[in-house]
Amino acid sequence: MSNIFNPDKTNLQQAAEIIKNGGLVAFPTETVYGLGANATIPLAVAAIFKAKDRPTFNPLISHIAELDTLEDFVETDSRAIALAKHFWPGPFTMVLRRNNKSAAMDLACAGLPTASVRMPNHPIALELIRLSGVPIVAPSANRSQTISPTTAQHVAESLGARVDMILDGGQCSVGVESTILDITGKQPVLLRAGGIALEDIEAFLQGKVLISHGEPDRPSSPGQMLKHYAPKHRFCINVTEPENGVFYIGFGKSKNANLNLSPSANLQEAAANLFAFMRIADQQAGEKGIAMAPIPETGLGLAINDRIRRASYR
Ligand code: TXA
Ligand code: MG
Repeated sequence: MSNIFNPDKTNLQQAAEIIKNGGLVAFPTETVYGLGANATIPLAVAAIFKAKDRPTFNPLISHIAELDTLEDFVETDSRAIALAKHFWPGPFTMVLRRNNKSAAMDLACAGLPTASVRMPNHPIALELIRLSGVPIVAPSANRSQTISPTTAQHVAESLGARVDMILDGGQCSVGVESTILDITGKQPVLLRAGGIALEDIEAFLQGKVLISHGEPDRPSSPGQMLKHYAPKHRFCINVTEPENGVFYIGFGKSKNANLNLSPSANLQEAAANLFAFMRIADQQAGEKGIAMAPIPETGLGLAINDRIRRASYR
């Protein structure tokens, strides 16, 4: 049975309910099909990484439908607003600094102090975002390291039942992902070439854009990952017998845990809790610091271990 649906009014309403409740909806944009989830529900964001078999938590693009909603999670300035008004809706993504209202989006932003945002130029995508009433994070709707999907059938072939609903909007008109521009610094930096030409951006800004030579699928400075959270306290990983007085974050059957990432050893639940629990641990730990139970190196465990290894590094 296929989970591809016509994007009529009833089905769009149902898709929005799925997003609101933390499920996954694949939807058309002008660039590629996105695998959408509610950006403010960590468990829903974790479900994206699981469905895609992504080994790390890449930061995801938040899709919005109204310019006003930018202020709900990022800091803006006149340059950001001017770029948005000129290039949105369209295949253009801006990296901006997050504001203090965006804590629920920690996982969506992979722990970075920045968020990437775009307003897609597709009526179905825009209507879905409006009806959902939240930013929708959406990487391309395919398994990791496979080709991005530009039809609903591509999505079904790659993800099948891993997605709750696929909205069919026909073929994507642009077919390559959005251009990503980091405007957190004085000079804008191109992080990924895409649907909007660099020349058009430079012409609009009347100035040069720097080109990032980092890996395109990694944030501009990977060392920055989780630095935001690099805990203030000593942080040990792979601990099964915590010392007395240590703040212990358990997993599965761990005994004496102050918090347990997932008592049932569910890695998706653990991923969803990770950033929030690390914040709490860092607030509540004493001088003995924080310890975390071993996390299996399978499925989302790879991404969790990657992040906690960075966080434990001194
Ligand atoms: O066209 C598109 O942008 C599509 C459609 C579905 O909208 N989405 C898409 O998402 O291509 P994704 O997850 O495949 O690519 C997002 C890219 C990644 O390379 C990620 O590292 C980068 O954006 N990115 C996201 N947030 C970032 C941030 N805060 N700083 C630096 N890079 C960021
Ligand atoms: Mg992709």
